[in-house]
Amino acid sequence: MGFLNSLLLLISFALEHAIASPARSNVNITRSFSLSPPRSPRAEKQMHDADYHSFSIEFCYMADYGGNDTHPNTFSRQVVQNLKDIAGKSPLFRVGGSTQNSAVYYPDQSEAIISPFSSDAATQPSHSYLGPSFMQSFNQFPEGSQYIYGLNFYNPTNETLFNVGDGLAQCVLEANAAYSAIGDALYGFEIGNEVDGWPGGQRRPANWTLQDYVDQWNYYAKVISQNLTGSDSLQIFQGCAFEAPRDVFDSTAWNVANAEADGMRSNMAKALTKIQYMGANCHYTGVGPTIETSIFDRTNVLSRVWYHDYLGNETAKSGIPYVLGETNSISCQGAANISDVMAAAVWAVDYVLYLSSLRFVATRVIQRYSPQVFPIYYAALFNAHVFAGGNKQTEVLVNGTDFGAYAVYGSGKLESIVAVNLAMWNSTFDQQERPYTVLELPNGWESAKVSRLTSPGVEIATNITLGGQSVNEKGVIVGDKLHEKAQGRRVLVGAGEAVLVQK
Ligand SMILES: *[C@@H]1O[C@H](CO)[C@@H](O)[C@H](O)[C@H]1NC(C)=O
Ligand SMILES: *[C@@H]1O[C@H](CO)[C@@H](O)[C@H](O)[C@H]1NC(C)=O
Ligand SMILES: *[C@@H]1O[C@H](CO)[C@@H](O)[C@H](O)[C@H]1NC(C)=O
Ligand SMILES: *[C@@H]1O[C@H](CO)[C@@H](O)[C@H](O)[C@H]1NC(C)=O
Ligand SMILES: *[C@@H]1O[C@H](CO)[C@@H](O)[C@H](O)[C@H]1NC(C)=O
Ligand SMILES: *[C@@H]1O[C@H](CO)[C@@H](O)[C@H](O)[C@H]1NC(C)=O
Ligand SMILES: *[C@@H]1O[C@H](CO)[C@@H](O)[C@H](O)[C@H]1NC(C)=O
Ligand SMILES: *[C@@H]1O[C@H](CO)[C@@H](O)[C@H](O)[C@H]1NC(C)=O
Ligand SMILES: *[C@@H]1O[C@H](CO)[C@@H](O)[C@H](O)[C@H]1NC(C)=O
Ligand SMILES: *[C@@H]1O[C@H](CO)[C@@H](O)[C@H](O)[C@H]1NC(C)=O
Repeated sequence: MGFLNSLLLLISFALEHAIASPARSNVNITRSFSLSPPRSPRAEKQMHDADYHSFSIEFCYMADYGGNDTHPNTFSRQVVQNLKDIAGKSPLFRVGGSTQNSAVYYPDQSEAIISPFSSDAATQPSHSYLGPSFMQSFNQFPEGSQYIYGLNFYNPTNETLFNVGDGLAQCVLEANAAYSAIGDALYGFEIGNEVDGWPGGQRRPANWTLQDYVDQWNYYAKVISQNLTGSDSLQIFQGCAFEAPRDVFDSTAWNVANAEADGMRSNMAKALTKIQYMGANCHYTGVGPTIETSIFDRTNVLSRVWYHDYLGNETAKSGIPYVLGETNSISCQGAANISDVMAAAVWAVDYVLYLSSLRFVATRVIQRYSPQVFPIYYAALFNAHVFAGGNKQTEVLVNGTDFGAYAVYGSGKLESIVAVNLAMWNSTFDQQERPYTVLELPNGWESAKVSRLTSPGVEIATNITLGGQSVNEKGVIVGDKLHEKAQGRRVLVGAGEAVLVQK
């Protein structure tokens, strides 16, 4: 049998099981990669837990995502349960963002949260007044879910914003309420979000430096520790939460390495965290971001990742883990037709896998878009399969401008291969012409199992399947599982698709 015939066989085999795929008589093979993963990962590779792909939820929306004791959000509960079932561990939720900075806790308020928008054009509420029942929302996700709670960080004295007054007492009050209500599910606190943007604004004087921040952070963390347990230093604070780093060499620049040099220590810092997006939906002039120029441009994506790679290396010695605490496709609430379509799911698989090959202990993808079945959720499902069971390490196998492939090791042994094809493919194109990349697998992978993340095109949000299955409007995984197999150690990856190949 010739090469082409064996490929046709491979395709017809896949089609037999491909419930949602349109019939294709031929396949457009445009390139191939021969993969030779190392038998074991390099020694310095970070070990990852099953919840590596975790979540970040904008603070003011937590009550919507979680619901409360009498009205739990059953949709959220279901989608989190799916991930827990697959990975064997519930993900972690970092609940924070700029709205945590405008939150004020009132022990006597009966409403969970009062968060008005100042105008129709505003993208976030002007403030969030919290009452004790807000904390109920942290008790609604499946057993074993953990949370990082984003605290406010007002000036310690005479804070005029929202008439807070004693900002340190307000921070302790909020921390104390969260600590008692969330209990063991509380993984940690953040104190203030993106404070590197504060000097000269409403919140801190123009001469407020990184050193001032670190001193104040240490002081707040100490006072909270004393209040919660009487100890001077609880190791439950995630430090920094700065904006995307752009300056790693200036010793006064706001970055995690400099914060450590200024006195942020592992006695209280459980982790250090940073924020990163692939483009912005605000503060630009001219043409906005598109799929091709933002998330499907690996040169763009990886140039942003470089800073984290550098800082992860710089801080590795300190013993404080480095986390990408808030990240997603496009900042400023996301961009329609980029953040909310299949492209975001394909990007997120590649991005999270790439980060896992660096010194990151966790990646928390922000979830702030539609509460309906969001395409990017398929990336979380995909990655729950990849990191299931934990003890995972990854190595980069292919690092192209629109293609990434990874070896995944479980307890040091090669276990699976992930490949992501970030070539543009729209649902309106002629499906017969869809270009496919051939992966040539190593010896011993003759009967590898393939789970495919696919859809008719990356610019739409519908008809997405993972391993033949989809997620319905109740958050339930439906459809027959599709067991594709590699044929002759070959697997095809279409433009705008990702595959998980398991040995
Ligand atoms: C719980 O949520 C429901 C529905 O949003 C709301 O009507 C009710 O007041 C909430 N209960 C509390 C204690 O906040
Ligand atoms: C805070 O305000 C009080 C009363 O106006 C004033 O006496 C005090 O000096 C102020 N403290 C600071 C640190 O500015
Ligand atoms: C901790 O702070 C809370 C809230 O301000 C307060 O009610 C409580 O008395 C404090 N506990 C201790 C031990 O200081
Ligand atoms: C920083 O600015 C504040 C307010 O503008 C001022 O009161 C303070 O003295 C300044 N601190 C230093 C060290 O210059
Ligand atoms: C992948 O390519 C980017 C350039 O786009 C480069 O910066 C990075 O170091 C490469 N990574 C690996 C693991 O080769
Ligand atoms: C980080 O360290 C790794 C392993 O030592 C190295 O390969 C990589 O180039 C470093 N990254 C940067 C940005 O310096
Ligand atoms: C998103 O795409 C849909 C369908 O192509 C289009 O109707 C809509 O106007 C687009 N929205 C934006 C904000 O570009
Ligand atoms: C195969 O895909 C390439 C890249 O998109 C395209 O240029 C070509 O026309 C396609 N060929 C066929 C036969 O569809
Ligand atoms: C594919 O879809 C994207 C997003 O809607 C659009 O920007 C792009 O122009 C489309 N490409 C073609 C060739 O139609
Ligand atoms: C999505 O699936 C529906 C139902 O199977 C089908 O009618 C529709 O044509 C599909 N859309 C695309 C873009 O393939």
